Amino acid sequence: MPADLHLLDGRTMPALGFGLYKVAGPDVGTVVDAAIAAGYRLADGAEFYGNEREVGDAVRRAVDAGLDRASLTLTSKFWGEESQSAEAVRTSFAASEAALGSPVDLYMIHWPRPERGEFVGAWRELIALQGEGRIRSIAVSNFTQEHLRRIIGETGVAPVVNQVELHPWLPQHALRAFHAEHGIVTQAWSPLGRGRLLGDPVVGRIAAARGVSPAQAIIRWHLQLGSALVPKSSNPHRLRENLDVDGFVLSDDDVAAIATLATDERTGTHPDDRQ
Ligand SMILES: NC(=O)c1ccc[n+]([C@@H]2O[C@H](COP(=O)([O-])OP(=O)(O)OC[C@H]3O[C@@H](n4cnc5c(N)ncnc54)[C@H](OP(=O)(O)O)[C@@H]3O)[C@@H](O)[C@H]2O)c1
Repeated sequence: MPADLHLLDGRTMPALGFGLYKVAGPDVGTVVDAAIAAGYRLADGAEFYGNEREVGDAVRRAVDAGLDRASLTLTSKFWGEESQSAEAVRTSFAASEAALGSPVDLYMIHWPRPERGEFVGAWRELIALQGEGRIRSIAVSNFTQEHLRRIIGETGVAPVVNQVELHPWLPQHALRAFHAEHGIVTQAWSPLGRGRLLGDPVVGRIAAARGVSPAQAIIRWHLQLGSALVPKSSNPHRLRENLDVDGFVLSDDDVAAIATLATDERTGTHPDDRQ
């Protein structure tokens, strides 16, 4: 099990969690049950994923079966498509909290939506909710350096995590350096390039040489960068496989070969383009 990462607010968080986007219906319970049984202790959810009620049910089942709830980091994200006003933050947060039926450990602004011009105010509201003891740690997602500078400059509070698209095609060198300078943990979304990187021949060659799967090789690459990540799998076997990455190390040559894959290709939207 990869080691936990230290957060700016003095807490810790598992480096490797599991994603919940596009996990629906009965799959939600299967995935959460299998992930917790495998040893995952960070669930990456969001209001937008539309499955928080099912996630909450599965977490309650696990707690009833003996899971220490305090060991689990449950993430949710404020969607804010209609508005990022303080009131919208409060309403969304309360809806997520109610659906999960459980405290939110890590709460993020999902997208900065910069043209709206409201994300600094939304960030102030997350700070207020944390001050009221309703959120353990506050964070953002899809923030560029410019967005991060604004919220840090105007509130004096840095997010503990910025969750961004990051994988061998899009290694995010400059953003990761900025995070390191400010003590912000980088958390990779779509860390396997939505599964599309798994067929890459360079990744395949490295994985075969190490006797691991392509997914394990890429997950190891993220961990050796010092990033957190939230790969998604709806398959219990693959969930276990993705957590089993402590038994090998990528060499400098492996890392250099993976660096040749960087094209800055995104599988999702650029943060400045989603409003
Ligand atoms: N903050 C944001 O804006 C944002 C945006 C996108 C995603 N996310 C988060 O990031 C999480 C992961 O992103 P993602 O689902 O887009 O992409 P991903 O984790 O890069 O890739 C998921 C794909 O890889 C496959 N896969 C996973 N492990 C595998 C293995 N060991 N062998 C073979 N195939 C494997 C999965 O298939 P199976 O399910 O069939 O195994 C699925 O098709 C999401 O669930 C969500 O929590 C956040």
